[in-house]
Amino acid sequence: MKHDDSGSREVHKSLCSAWILSMWSIRVTRALATMLGNIRRVLRMVKPSKMMTSASGQTEKRAHCTSIQLLHDCLVVNHEEQQMHVSYVWLRDHCCDSYNSVTHQRSLDTAAIDLAIRPQSASVEEDRLVITWPGGHVSSYSFKWLTENSYQEVKRKTVQPRILWNKDVYENANIASAKWDTFMKSDDELKTFLQNYLLYGIAFVDDVPATVEATEAVSQRVSLIRETTYGKMWCFTSDLSRGDTAYTNMALDRHTDTSYFHEPCGIQVFHCLKHEGTGGRTLLVDGFYAAEKLRERSPENFELLTRVPIRHEYIEVSETHKNHISSMGPVLSVYPWNREVYQIRYNNYDRAAINTIPHELVQRWYAAHRQLTTELCRPENELWVKLTPGMVIFIDNWRVLHGREAFTGLRQLCGCYLTRDDVLSVARGFGLKA
Ligand SMILES: [Fe+2]
Repeated sequence: MKHDDSGSREVHKSLCSAWILSMWSIRVTRALATMLGNIRRVLRMVKPSKMMTSASGQTEKRAHCTSIQLLHDCLVVNHEEQQMHVSYVWLRDHCCDSYNSVTHQRSLDTAAIDLAIRPQSASVEEDRLVITWPGGHVSSYSFKWLTENSYQEVKRKTVQPRILWNKDVYENANIASAKWDTFMKSDDELKTFLQNYLLYGIAFVDDVPATVEATEAVSQRVSLIRETTYGKMWCFTSDLSRGDTAYTNMALDRHTDTSYFHEPCGIQVFHCLKHEGTGGRTLLVDGFYAAEKLRERSPENFELLTRVPIRHEYIEVSETHKNHISSMGPVLSVYPWNREVYQIRYNNYDRAAINTIPHELVQRWYAAHRQLTTELCRPENELWVKLTPGMVIFIDNWRVLHGREAFTGLRQLCGCYLTRDDVLSVARGFGLKA
C-alpha cells in the first residue's frame, strides 16, 4: 500500500506539473502574440519621412523616420529625432477645423470636448498625422506644426532673441542711427530700426526737428502713443510742475519708469529740445545683462527676485493733479517655461513699503536686491549719452534702465510712452521675431 500510495502521489505530481507547464506556455504564447501585435501596429504607423532635395539637386532620403504610438492617455510622436507626448484633448482642441482662417480665431467650443476623448484611429500619411475621432471627424496636422508647437520645442527656444550689452559691447557694435527723412518714408529703414531696438533695447533716430510735433510724428511712425497721467506728449523742465524728481535738475539714478503700473509703459521716447548749461547726460544700463550676470553668479538670488512680488506706488497731491497709483510685481519677470527674463522693474524712488515678504525672507530679499544693484552699478555696464536736439532715443522700458546726470541751466525735454504690445506687433508685421 505504501508503494501504491507513493506511486499515485507521483502520478498526481506529474499531472500538476504538466498542467502548470501548459498554462505557463499558453500565457507566454499569448504575451508573445500581444507583443508581436503591438510591434506590427507601431511598424504600420512608421513611415520614412519625406524625400529631401539637396543643394546639388540630388534627392536623398532622410535617415530618420516618423512614428506614432497610441498610449492610454496620449499620443507619442517620434519625429526628426525628437519625441513628443501629445494629449488627445489638446489634439482635438487644435484641429485645423477649429479655427476660422479669415479671423485667425478659434471657432471650436473647447468646453464641449470630452476630456477623456481618444482617437478611433491614427496614422502617418506623408508628413502629416491623421486622426479619426469617435463620430467620424477627421483631423490632420503637419509634423512640422506639431514640432513647432510642442512644449519641448518652445521650452528650448528664446521668445525674443537679444544681444545683451555693457558699454564696450554696445559701442563696439557701432549701430547706425536712423535718419529722420528716410525713417519717415522708408519701411526698410523702420524695419532696421525695429530690429536694432529688439536686439539692444535702445534705438536712435537723428536729424529730427527739435519740436514736440516732430517728436510726436517720429513716435507715431513706430506705433501708438500711450497716454498716461502725464498726458500723451509730455514736455518738461526743472520747474517741479509735477511731484516727481524728474522735474528737477538733480541727478536721477538708474531706474525703469512707471513701475507703479500693473503694465509698466513699454517704450520710453526722449528728445532733448534745448539745453543751455552743463551736465545732463543720460545714463543707460541693460537690465537684462545685469540680470543674467546675477543668474550666473547667484542663481538662488536671481530666482528669489523672480518669485517675490513687491509694491511700487506714485502719490501726487497738488492743485491740479491727484494720483495714487499702485501695483505689485517682482523685480525680475521670467517666462515660466524657459526662465527667460522679459521684464525688469527697478525703481528705488517709487518702491513702496515692503510688506509682502515674510520675515524669514526679508534679509535674503535685500541681499538679492543688493547683488542685482551691484551688477547694475558696475561702471563698465554704464552707457552715458549726451542727448542733443535732433536726436530721439527709444528705450525698452521693460529692459533698459535710464538715469540722468545733474545739470545746470535750462534743459527742455519732451517725449512720450509707446504701448509695448503695439510696437511688437509692428515688428512682427515686418517678419521680425518679437
Ligand atoms: Fe524716468
